[in-house]
Amino acid sequence: VDSKTGQLLALHEQAAKLYHHILVNTEMGQPALDYLHDRGLTDETIDTYQLGFAPGQRLLKPFFDQRQSDYQLLRQSGLFIENAQGELRDRFTERVMFPLRNASGHVAAFSGRLLQKADDQPKYLNSPETTLFNKSKLLFNFDLARPAIRQAGEVTLFEGYMDVISATQAGVKNGIASMGTSLTTEQIYAIERTTDKLNVCYDGDEPGQRAIDRALRLLNEHSHLQLSVIQLPEGQDPDEYRKAHGDDAFRQMMVSAKEPPLQFQLRFLRRDRPLETDSERLAYVNQVLPLLAQVDEPVERDMYLGQLANEFQIDKAALV
Ligand code: CTP
Ligand code: MN
Ligand code: MN
Ligand code: MN
Ligand code: MN
Repeated sequence: VDSKTGQLLALHEQAAKLYHHILVNTEMGQPALDYLHDRGLTDETIDTYQLGFAPGQRLLKPFFDQRQSDYQLLRQSGLFIENAQGELRDRFTERVMFPLRNASGHVAAFSGRLLQKADDQPKYLNSPETTLFNKSKLLFNFDLARPAIRQAGEVTLFEGYMDVISATQAGVKNGIASMGTSLTTEQIYAIERTTDKLNVCYDGDEPGQRAIDRALRLLNEHSHLQLSVIQLPEGQDPDEYRKAHGDDAFRQMMVSAKEPPLQFQLRFLRRDRPLETDSERLAYVNQVLPLLAQVDEPVERDMYLGQLANEFQIDKAALV
């Protein structure tokens, strides 16, 4: 760690502490604290993730000015927005702050969530890419999850920060998430160095289902990870499931909703397709065959081929 990196990390550490202090100890932070409590987070969870609040006024800039922090360092931190005159002001205002820690557990960036929906602003705002923060590499919670991943022998990949945090609170501590972008090969390689089993547990809505399909294809192509899908009920994300059904039901669901990736992929390919004409059926079979070809177990592959042949009244020999 060179000294500039060390200084930037120290800046993030101080910012995280300050945002957290505002959230848990001040009047200004009370609406955000109420919001997090309403979402079912305990004070312990809020501490574990050092969640914070960036109020709607100048906070970081005066704080660091008092400490005579270096202007260039502040500029490079990504914590500020610079105007044409080179003046800096806080990037994050009126947002619940999620510190994003790197693999060694140091805060390298932030994601800030709006308290209320606003049409002209993104729900989550992330730090820009900096020397500390590469969003295609960082995995949310990887540092805290690593012991649990080793113990469980598997990792669970969620879509959102709140899903990971919610799962942790329910006792499922081996969860991670990518940065709101789709999964990258760099993240896959980092995961593969820690475990050989991965569960994809994305949201039960249409974007979530498409993201599962995309993730499975990428994981199949770039890793030897043993994959499963944890399928949420229609329209629900993991955090919403926990809120609706409680911690015990959440933990049970994480086991009982687990399915082989191929089962997911076949259902996904079939959705909204009546398969009424021969050409529709042929197109479907032609999409399924490459997926079946990826099944390493000959007996399992043969079983799926048999089902396909049976359902579509095709000679199995014609499929292989
Ligand atoms: N995301 C983002 N910017 C947005 C919306 C989403 O970066 N405007 C990212 C965030 O990392 C978020 C993830 O995509 O966690 C999943 O999006 P979504 O399911 O909409 O959010 P949730 O995680 O469910 O967030 P919440 O429960 O707080 O609404
Ligand atoms: Mn409290
Ligand atoms: Mn989603
Ligand atoms: Mn979601
Ligand atoms: Mn959610």
